[in-house]
Amino acid sequence: PLPRPYEVPLPTPQVLAPIRTSGTTDVYEITQRTARLQILPGLETTAWTYGGTFPGPTIVSRSGRRTMVRHRNELPHPTVVHLHGGHTPYSSDGYPTALILPPGHTASHDDGMAGMPGMSGASDAQDIAAVQRTYTYPMAQRAATLWYHDHRMGFTGANVWNGLAGFHLVHDDEEEALPLPRGERDIPLMITDRSFAADGSFRYPALDAEQHKPGVSDQYMDGVLGDVVLVNGAPWPVLETEGLRYRLRLLNASNARRYRLALDPQPPGGGGLVQIGSDGGLLERPLKHDALDIAPGERFDVVVDFSRYRPGTRVRLVNRLGSGGTAAVMRFDVSTARPPADDSRIPARLSTLPAPQPENAVATRTFHFQRSSGSMGWTINGRAYKPGRPLAKVRLGTTEIWRFVTDFHHPIHLHLDHFRVTARNGASIGPYDEGWKDTVDLRPAESVEIVTRFTDYPGRYMLHCHNLEHEDMAMMADFVTE
Ligand code: C2O
Ligand code: CU
Repeated sequence: PLPRPYEVPLPTPQVLAPIRTSGTTDVYEITQRTARLQILPGLETTAWTYGGTFPGPTIVSRSGRRTMVRHRNELPHPTVVHLHGGHTPYSSDGYPTALILPPGHTASHDDGMAGMPGMSGASDAQDIAAVQRTYTYPMAQRAATLWYHDHRMGFTGANVWNGLAGFHLVHDDEEEALPLPRGERDIPLMITDRSFAADGSFRYPALDAEQHKPGVSDQYMDGVLGDVVLVNGAPWPVLETEGLRYRLRLLNASNARRYRLALDPQPPGGGGLVQIGSDGGLLERPLKHDALDIAPGERFDVVVDFSRYRPGTRVRLVNRLGSGGTAAVMRFDVSTARPPADDSRIPARLSTLPAPQPENAVATRTFHFQRSSGSMGWTINGRAYKPGRPLAKVRLGTTEIWRFVTDFHHPIHLHLDHFRVTARNGASIGPYDEGWKDTVDLRPAESVEIVTRFTDYPGRYMLHCHNLEHEDMAMMADFVTE
C-alpha cells in the first residue's frame, strides 16, 4: 500500500554533532548498522544505515578545518565510504577495495575482488580495516553541497539503494557573507527512487543478497529504477513554506534515474528555479531555469521565491521525465499567513571563478564509455575495471583536457578535483554545465570536454559512471596522481 503523494511531511536529516573538536579539527563518529525505518505507512523497511537513519546524519564542515569521521561497520557485510565531491587524500577517498569489515568477518579473496565481469587476481591496492576506519578530510575546498555514500566495489548499487547515503555540507566565509536564505530556509533535498516489496522491504534485484557475487541480472543492466520517489527518505513529501525565498540543495542520489525537475505551477513569468550553485559550490552569477535536468550524483543549489505565488498555492516539484508515481517528487504548500519581511536576496554576483584554461593543458585524453560486446558489462576504453590498473597517470599541479564519449546515458564522475565543462558535442556547454562540476551527464552518443587541474594529493583515484549499476558492472577506471 503506497501512500498518496503529499501526505508525509518532509523530514530533514539531523545534523551530526562532533564527539570532539579542537582548534583545527572536528571529529565525528558514525555506526553503520541495520535499522527498521517507517517509510511506507504501517510497514517497516529494514535499511542499511549510517547511524540508524536514511538519509544518514548531515555532516557540516567549515572550509579549511579538518573533519575526521570514524566509521564503525556493524552491517552484515563489508563497506567503503566515499565523500563525493571531497578534495580528499587517497588514503581517505574510499577506494573501492579499501574495505571496512564487520566484526567477526575475516577478509577473503571475495571481499575485495569478487568477480566483477572479466576480473581475476588480487589487487595490489588492498587496504582492509577491521570493524572501523577513520576518514580524514582536510576540507581545503570551497563551500559546496557534498554527500557521502558507500563505494564498495561491485556492491555500491545495492548498498546505496538500501540506505547508505547522507549529506556533507561545507561552509565558508565567502558564501556566508552573501544574503542568501539560511537556517530553516536552507534545505538539503536528497532525491531517490526506490521500489518496495509488499512487506515494505526495499526491493533491489541483486544477483546475490549475500554479497559474494556483484551486480544485477541482465535485465537490469541499464540500471535499477524504482516506482516511488523519496525525498530525504520520505515518499512524495510535503513542506509548508512561508511566502519567502528558500535555498534548496538538490541532490540526485538515485542509482540510475534522471529527473527533469520543474515547479508546477511555475511562478508568473517563469524561471522559478534560480540556480546559485553546482556540484562544486557557488556559480559566478545566478542562472534562471524553468526546468533542471539532474543525473545521479549531481547537485544543483537553487533558490525558489515562494512570494511569487499567491498565499495558499500548492506548488508541486515534478519530474518531467517520469510517468505515474515517478512524475511527482514533492510539494510545497505556501502558507496563507502573512510572511515576515524577507531578509534574503540573490546577489547578481555570487562568486568569482577562475576561467578554465584549456590552453595550459599538458595532455588531452579521450575516454569512451561503452557497453561491452562480450560478457564484461560496461567498459571505459574497452576495459572492465580492474583495481590497480590505471587508465591515466597525471602530474599534480598540471592541467589536462579530458574528453568523454558515450554510447548510452552515462553520468560521469571524477574523484579528487572538480572540473569545468568547456564543450558539449563540440559546441558550447549545455544549460546544466555551468560552474565547478564533479559529475557531468552525457546522453547517448554525446561527448563533452572538461578541463581540470589535479592538485595536492598523490594516489589512486576513480573515474567512473555514476549510474550505480554501470559502476558495479565495471564502468570505472583508476587514474594515478603523482
Ligand atoms: Cu559518488 Cu565515486 O562516487
Ligand atoms: Cu553509465
